[in-house]
Amino acid sequence: MKKIMLLGSGELGKEFVIACKRKGMYVVACDKYDNAPAMQVADEREVFSMLDGDALMAAVNKHNPDIIVPEIEAIRTEKLYECEKMGIQVTPSARAVNFTMNRKAIRELAHTELGLKTANYKYAKTFEEFKAAADEIGYPFIVKPLMSSSGHGQSKVDSPAELQKAWDDAVAGARGDIKEVIVEQFIKFDYEITLLTVTQKNGKTLFCRPIGHVQKGGDYRESFQPMPMQDQHLKEAQVMADKVTKALTGAGIWGVEFFISNKDGVYFSELSPRPHDTGMVTLAGTQNLSEFELHCRAVLGLPIPEITQEKNGASAVILSPVETENPQYEGMEDVCAAERTYLRIFGKPVAHVGRRMGVVVCYDKLDTDLNQLRDKCKSLAAKVTVK
Ligand SMILES: Nc1ncnc2c1ncn2[C@@H]1O[C@H](COP(=O)(O)OP(=O)(O)OP(=O)(O)O)[C@@H](O)[C@H]1O
Ligand SMILES: [Mg+2]
Repeated sequence: MKKIMLLGSGELGKEFVIACKRKGMYVVACDKYDNAPAMQVADEREVFSMLDGDALMAAVNKHNPDIIVPEIEAIRTEKLYECEKMGIQVTPSARAVNFTMNRKAIRELAHTELGLKTANYKYAKTFEEFKAAADEIGYPFIVKPLMSSSGHGQSKVDSPAELQKAWDDAVAGARGDIKEVIVEQFIKFDYEITLLTVTQKNGKTLFCRPIGHVQKGGDYRESFQPMPMQDQHLKEAQVMADKVTKALTGAGIWGVEFFISNKDGVYFSELSPRPHDTGMVTLAGTQNLSEFELHCRAVLGLPIPEITQEKNGASAVILSPVETENPQYEGMEDVCAAERTYLRIFGKPVAHVGRRMGVVVCYDKLDTDLNQLRDKCKSLAAKVTVK
């Protein structure tokens, strides 16, 4: 039995812990607040700020884990290099976790070093530089803090009149001490995908079928698998995912995000070195192994002979419209009454406005209409009210 320390205990962590428990592992779940979803199913918990390097190392020294599995980006990730030196396996690697938490680091690696096609971009540290970057990239563009996730501080800027507000929002939405932003050409993509990619300790890199998704305000609302794609575009995405995950090193699942334009081809956007929120669609049993089971096997160095697509699937999120402690859920009966559908309530102790509290996933046979399945899933998720 191995001891796994999970840094971040949200809904993705919860499913990962369940996968690990099914393999008999011992899990210590950490987060900045108590009773987080993954803590509810783990062996032990630790509550501390993972951005605090000393607190992080104190928890590591106390539990002496075999493996550290980061579930979120808001971690003092430089410390993970120290953990690797101590002989602890970091998932997928300290290098990968460090690079992906900073948009500049990953963009420079992907675009400048590896030559992957991305949106045009510039960086800005001051409002003056921001204006200059906007002129160079052109309108509309997207601005994002270098360190942020789930759309925090991110906005689309259509004209110079919106520059000041966009800058203020980006600076306010940044995590950590870096106040720099990236200004990105707005890509008018036809659709976007997450390509779940699995790198293994002893085995070749494997790909899941692409997952299509729809984002609002930089956060995911629905996802569906398998997303139909031109063969050529899928191949290009796989080659890029292979390159960038190899360069970042380590074993685990990665959510590699791409924008696809039928006219201009495939753009690399970013990647997560961990299960991806849009990959919750695999909880519908779309594949022989869910993204969480795949991550668990890859992390433990267990073989993954193949990944097979078994069903069509869709996921749709349940967001809270209110701010409340001990949230209650209405409409669960409606979802559970539907065929080929699962309801997953994450069990978060507190609801915030717009916070993701649960997900509905639906499945059907592979030859059925994916759009109908998406509609069904969205209308079921809309029936659940958080109070
Ligand atoms: N250059 C762009 N052109 C068009 N749309 C974009 C661009 N950049 C981002 N978006 C849209 O915003 C979404 C979120 O962007 P991105 O993934 O970079 O942010 P994030 O904060 O890291 O999100 P998450 O952490 O949820 O993955 C994308 O999935 C896409 O829908
Ligand atoms: Mg993203």
